[in-house]
Amino acid sequence: MRLILLGAPGAGKGTQANFIKEKYNIPQISTGDMLRAAIKAGTELGVAAKKVMDAGGLVSDDIMIGLVKNRLKESDCQNGYLFDGFPRTIAQADAMKDAGIDVDYVLEINVPDEFIVERMSGRRSHPGSGRVYHITNNPPKVDNVDDLTGEALIQRDDDKEEIVKQRLSVYHNQTEVLLGYYNQWAQSGLPGAPKYRRISGIGPVEQIREAAFAALSE
Ligand code: AP5
Ligand code: ZN
Repeated sequence: MRLILLGAPGAGKGTQANFIKEKYNIPQISTGDMLRAAIKAGTELGVAAKKVMDAGGLVSDDIMIGLVKNRLKESDCQNGYLFDGFPRTIAQADAMKDAGIDVDYVLEINVPDEFIVERMSGRRSHPGSGRVYHITNNPPKVDNVDDLTGEALIQRDDDKEEIVKQRLSVYHNQTEVLLGYYNQWAQSGLPGAPKYRRISGIGPVEQIREAAFAALSE
């Protein structure tokens, strides 16, 4: 299984990626998680990316494309992969196409803007694994502690309300166009065209999981 998860910031890409990667036994390639790991490691990339991410902008296409191509060379990607947060611009999508990085499905998780700020302000993340929780919608078993490792959860620096609004605006200006891009490609029936599936991201996490599994088996 090779797929792309598309959706606004906070739509639930990371939450559903966790279920999908387990079911299909494929790695989750979350470019956001990769950048946060670089920040934590204090690399040159991390230092540069932090400024952009804290302001709600996008890291440059060249850097992101290079990062993803390198990641795909690793042995765990040979039987499939799940992209979460990539591609985010037409340039990134075109670069994937040009490099022959094919996908079987593009799954869009649709959540209107008015739900997003509330989701982000209650989000808590486990930095080591990328697992995400919500203080009321999807709480960990013990407050502020990851269910599997027992390690502390953190709040992301870019989840402040004004930054979330900026990220949403960047999404509408630069990423949303990819919904049409992949939809049209899917309908073209050309060789290598992915299947396009759209599900609602509103409702209990388990309900969205079942909708995602159903969409990916059609
Ligand atoms: P990234 O980490 O990709 O962030 P994002 O796309 O903004 O998405 P999020 O991780 O915020 O949301 P999500 O859809 O994963 O939702 P989640 O499951 O966590 O990118 C961060 C930054 O890195 C970017 O701003 C950019 O600067 C940079 N970057 C990354 N990739 C890049 C690229 N390719 N090019 C350039 N720059 C790049 O859920 C959110 C919350 O909602 C959680 O609390 C969760 O528990 C809760 N929730 C989930 N599902 C439900 C539900 N059904 N009901 C209620 N609550 C729910
Ligand atoms: Zn995420």
